[in-house]
Amino acid sequence: MLKTRITEMLGIEYPIICGGMQYVSNAELVAAVSNAGGMGMLAVGNFGSKEELRDEIRKIKTLTDKPFGVNVTFMPVLEFVDREGMMDTAIEEGASAFETSGRISEEHVQRIKKGNAKHIHKVARVRDARTAERLGADAVVIVGYECGGIPPMDEITTFIQVPLVVGAVNIPVIAGGGIGDARGFVAALALGAEGVLMGTRFMATRESLIHSNAKEAMVNAKETDTICVMRSLGIMERTLKTEVSQKVVEMEKKGATLEELIPLIIGKKVQEAFETGDLHTGILPCGQITGLINEVPTVKEVIDDMVSGAEDILNRLTRMIRAG
Ligand SMILES: Cc1cc2nc3c(=O)[nH]c(=O)nc-3n(C[C@H](O)[C@H](O)[C@H](O)COP(=O)(O)O)c2cc1C
Repeated sequence: MLKTRITEMLGIEYPIICGGMQYVSNAELVAAVSNAGGMGMLAVGNFGSKEELRDEIRKIKTLTDKPFGVNVTFMPVLEFVDREGMMDTAIEEGASAFETSGRISEEHVQRIKKGNAKHIHKVARVRDARTAERLGADAVVIVGYECGGIPPMDEITTFIQVPLVVGAVNIPVIAGGGIGDARGFVAALALGAEGVLMGTRFMATRESLIHSNAKEAMVNAKETDTICVMRSLGIMERTLKTEVSQKVVEMEKKGATLEELIPLIIGKKVQEAFETGDLHTGILPCGQITGLINEVPTVKEVIDDMVSGAEDILNRLTRMIRAG
């Protein structure tokens, strides 16, 4: 047990959240994180209809009786999804928290509150954290440039983002981006965060549904083996450095248009690459923490190691301070 405003708010044992990951989060991963004492978030972007989402949530409920959440992305990339309908379905099915990202409105926040769920909004800029607080979010996640998925365009790292946001808002802050073990966990708490949100670390676990080739590629990847694509489109995505992602960056440098880039970056290809393990098919979102990932443990092993490792680190720091 590790008590912060986040554990209290979400009714969980440890302030460790698995961020929603399109093409990666499924019932097994979400339930495994919740069962291990954290909170898993199911990404609605995985589902073409409310019925599909409902089925997957029902599956989560057969796998855990612990609280779980749902991720809803308000990025332009998911405009075709009936996000409001998906939110209502998740509430009906008992999701107790929402992790949102992108441009939310007051109406979205109210929808979550009416459903008696907690609202965590994920941002990549200090000013967006202030806006989230003003709109009524219960907590905010701030991600740094290291993160998998969509990093801040201005390239500010987690170490700088977290204390800035902690100083800017009164609601609890969760740190995301580049966290994958006890060291990152303790560092985030030391920076003033009251919890951590991780994506990449949980991708390379036994329960994650991606193909073993993708997990192996992550284990073999160095910290320099990720690359940001789509910068020219004004919304970046950090991905594994593969032939496809490097080609995208090359094309962008030569002034490629969105229409020219779409065949390479389209979600269907990402999904195909994760499912088939053919890493030449599409881009593979992944954070820099992949450089610190050397094995594919279970979710429970990841979380247990973070919690017991945090205690060891704190004992070491206490001894250092007392010796000084
Ligand atoms: C494969 C992948 C898919 C993701 N999909 C989503 C998504 O659908 N919605 C969202 O808000 N964030 C998404 N993210 C971001 C994660 O939820 C989380 O913010 C990020 O992974 C944290 O950084 P880390 O990877 O360094 O731990 C995704 C990240 C990855 C790696």
